[in-house]
Amino acid sequence: MSALLQLIVVCILIQVLILVYHLTGPPKSLSRFTRTSSHTAPDFSHLAEHCAHVPPIPAASFLERQQSLAQTLHSLNASAYIAEPGASAGYFANLSGSQWHLSERPLLLIISPEINSAEQVHAKVSILTPAFELTRAKLLPLPSSIDIAYLAWPEDADPFAVAVSAIPSLSEGTVFVDGMTRNFIVDGLQKATPGSEVVVSPVEIRRLRERKSKEELEIMKCVNEVTLLAIRAVRDNMYVGMRESEAHRMIVSALAAAGLQDPGALTLFGENAALPHGSGTDRVLGAHDFALIDCDGSLHGYHSDVTRTFALPDSTVHAAHLRLWNLVHSAQANALAAAQNGTITAEVDRAARDTLHAQGYAQYLTHRLGHGVGLEVHESPYLRGGSDDVILTGHTFSDEPGIYIEGQVGVRLEDCFYVNEDGQSIFLTEGVGGAATSPWKP
Ligand SMILES: *[C@@H]1O[C@H](CO)[C@@H](O)[C@H](O)[C@H]1NC(C)=O
Ligand SMILES: *[C@@H]1O[C@H](CO)[C@@H](O)[C@H](O)[C@H]1NC(C)=O
Ligand SMILES: *[C@@H]1O[C@H](CO)[C@@H](O)[C@H](O)[C@H]1NC(C)=O
Repeated sequence: MSALLQLIVVCILIQVLILVYHLTGPPKSLSRFTRTSSHTAPDFSHLAEHCAHVPPIPAASFLERQQSLAQTLHSLNASAYIAEPGASAGYFANLSGSQWHLSERPLLLIISPEINSAEQVHAKVSILTPAFELTRAKLLPLPSSIDIAYLAWPEDADPFAVAVSAIPSLSEGTVFVDGMTRNFIVDGLQKATPGSEVVVSPVEIRRLRERKSKEELEIMKCVNEVTLLAIRAVRDNMYVGMRESEAHRMIVSALAAAGLQDPGALTLFGENAALPHGSGTDRVLGAHDFALIDCDGSLHGYHSDVTRTFALPDSTVHAAHLRLWNLVHSAQANALAAAQNGTITAEVDRAARDTLHAQGYAQYLTHRLGHGVGLEVHESPYLRGGSDDVILTGHTFSDEPGIYIEGQVGVRLEDCFYVNEDGQSIFLTEGVGGAATSPWKP
């Protein structure tokens, strides 16, 4: 046969094969490889409605926050509070880190207390912005009811000198900067204001953001509740033999279906859960394993953080592992009971550790008990030994004891709680049952 004829015959054969494939579907031996598992992608759309009724923070609340800040600054005899776009600027002016990418060119929120003619303190709000970005800065979603002064610094000027010439009070007294402000900004401010002292804001200012209002707590309850509902919904779709990565895809898709932003998740099976932040392998779930899911997401800027260590309905868990689960469960409950208005944060950490110590397991709780939570997943204050912060009404923390025995087993249970008006601690997940009650009832 000539080469041309051979080519034509091969082409016809390929066409016939394609036709047969389309008419009959893939041969059985092929379908085994084209489908990754017999389980279809689970439907989590029922989670969408849980927080649909919860409103974001209204403009009026931002004005109240600025007013409280101005009064606090005045009472501390400070001339201003300065923050870069981030959680604190998000709290005081809706200027979160997702709104403006930090670069070497400073964009700063400056709030200074001013005394009006009636001798009342009010907040003067300024945005220091690169001059060529002025139009974009004015598009930031700062509540429109705020009266904002835009201070534009040209490329050939010192941004901090521009700020001082517009706000002369910066040049004397104390200037507080948010704790997350980058060093070159603190340094530049200090050089431009030799007569003042530029220092990180003290606890009186940090507490304005740390202690949540009723409307913030409504958001935080809902976001934590729906995060727990997402874990339970994922568990309902899990099976022995699946991989950690598959559970990871499920929980991320459940959090997205719940309408949450910034989803984060750890899915760890068996002894992999003994490494609190994961192992990097993609383990298969065995019939005797616990599965650990630790996840978070945000609603209107406020974050959840929930961990469950659980068994599947038909799993048979070793009695020794079950004892560890019950011990962690007691530690979590005892820590919650210890956390009241007026308690020192270190005492709450100790309550959990003492519970484990009584059974000889204290050395397996290798991390602090918990962290503040709100506009950041981890924020001050922290529940840890050595900390002398005082817990007050409105504070929110994670309560997350664990036992980690490397190469064997890891158990962590985590719910976030708030301190109510009566000074008592309540889990933010309480509306959907609160703490787990057994590895089979997470
Ligand atoms: C705060 O910013 C968000 C966008 O991040 C926006 O949707 C919301 O309306 C703003 N809030 C107010 C009170 O302007
Ligand atoms: C307050 O700060 C000013 C400078 O801004 C200073 O002159 C004054 O002594 C301070 N007052 C107190 C009570 O510290
Ligand atoms: C909370 O504790 C603080 C400091 O110990 C105290 O001043 C305040 O009155 C307490 N509030 C409640 C509601 O118990």
